[in-house]
Amino acid sequence: MPVLVVIGGQWGDEGKGRMVDLLARSASVVARYSAGNNAGHTVVTDRGIFRLHLVPAGIFYADKVCLIGNGVVIDPSILLEEIESLESNGVSTKNLFVSSRAQVIMPYHVLIDRLDEELRGPAAIGTTMRGVGPAFADKVSRVGIRMADLIRPEVFRARLSLILPYKNAFLTKLYGGEALDFNEVYETYSDYGRRLAPFVRDTMALVHEALDRGQTVVLEGAQGSLLDLDAGTYEYVTSSVPSSTAAGAGIGMGIGPTAITKVVGVYKAYNTRVGNGPMPTELVDEKGEVLPEAIQIRDRGKELGFGEYGATTGRPRRCGWFDAVAARYTARLNGLTGALITRLDVLDSFKSLKICTGYHIDGRPVEGFPASTWELARCEPIYEEVPGWEKDTSGVRLFDDLPAAAQAYVRRLESLIGCPVAIVSVGPERDQAIIVKPVL
Ligand code: GDP
Ligand code: IMO
Ligand code: MG
Repeated sequence: MPVLVVIGGQWGDEGKGRMVDLLARSASVVARYSAGNNAGHTVVTDRGIFRLHLVPAGIFYADKVCLIGNGVVIDPSILLEEIESLESNGVSTKNLFVSSRAQVIMPYHVLIDRLDEELRGPAAIGTTMRGVGPAFADKVSRVGIRMADLIRPEVFRARLSLILPYKNAFLTKLYGGEALDFNEVYETYSDYGRRLAPFVRDTMALVHEALDRGQTVVLEGAQGSLLDLDAGTYEYVTSSVPSSTAAGAGIGMGIGPTAITKVVGVYKAYNTRVGNGPMPTELVDEKGEVLPEAIQIRDRGKELGFGEYGATTGRPRRCGWFDAVAARYTARLNGLTGALITRLDVLDSFKSLKICTGYHIDGRPVEGFPASTWELARCEPIYEEVPGWEKDTSGVRLFDDLPAAAQAYVRRLESLIGCPVAIVSVGPERDQAIIVKPVL
């Protein structure tokens, strides 16, 4: 009864959604365990292209149970929209359940996300402005509201009447914004609660029952390990508690670490990042102008909606060569049993490629992955240049059919990451994948 965790090995948007969709075929339960609708997971199906923000990517199989775990923060309006959009496109949500312990993103969280970014000025994080950070901060500060409270009008009224004056004080006195009206918030959110109530369950109990039955569970990570509060490029990180790394999966679903049997990390064949913060291999010049190689990566497939633009905010993603220092660091941090490489096809047109195998600062080699953002920002990559393949790989389905230079590139990433590559994807569609080794 494998329990597989799928995490992002870089700064997010590695293609976790499409990989979970592929792996879900062999599972009974697919669950999200952390973050909120800052995540955007794109899945291409025969019913169209879906950008999921909260619903796990197992939803496209009618027989899979999909859980949104206690570690997730939920914007009820976004979840309702997502459910309606799936249903109107013929995707059933009858097996979707939401944890009664999940925290709710309230309207003041969304306002504070924006006001706080403005207040920070040059120290802004470049958040997705979805209220996710403020909602996690309230969870930790013990002034959060859980789904279990939202769906009980009297409990919700009592809780909101304690919390809203406190949050309004922040909005007005600290940020100079306007106070929210109690009745308006109560009416709107209790209506959301009423509509979401049929989905709310004790998901911890549901996952325990699945484990008792010996069923296969896939736990879908959000974001990437380099955005983790502890291990990531702090302070330019996300605020998920529990962490989006593999270690957060147990907490975010309510299962013990010994229940987890496999952990795979999804890595793009190069690097991207959205939001602020250092990225040593970013392809920009000294003035911060985007270099032609970055545009070649970013805009490939743009006309079809598969360019490097954020699935949640539409922001252009910062692009750069594969950073093996960071990749090895996240592989160890997550205890990976396998690596899944995505978007290899995006590199098809390059004559040669670079892989970052080390960093130096002023000519001095840097040990490991720096803890200090200030230090990471000064790191210069040490590159190894390898030949490109200049052939279309999007139709390849067997590893041995990849051009020799593409095989060598993947094998080089594998040895640098330090764990076996199990899947290589060469396009966004479910079948555009090369299974190198079974994952489940
Ligand atoms: P996630 O947040 O990790 O699920 O990743 P996103 O969905 O935000 O971003 C990944 C993007 O790459 C999406 O547009 C996917 O459809 C697309 N994608 C995934 N795998 C591949 C691949 O192998 N090749 C190409 N060209 N696109 C891919
Ligand atoms: P998926 O699951 C990429 C980034 C934001 C910002 C930082 C903090 O699709 O990989 P937040 O709104 O979380 O407080 O913003 O984290 N970020 C992501 N970047 N993919 C994501 O999710 C992200 N979720 C948050 O851009 O830099
Ligand atoms: Mg994404």
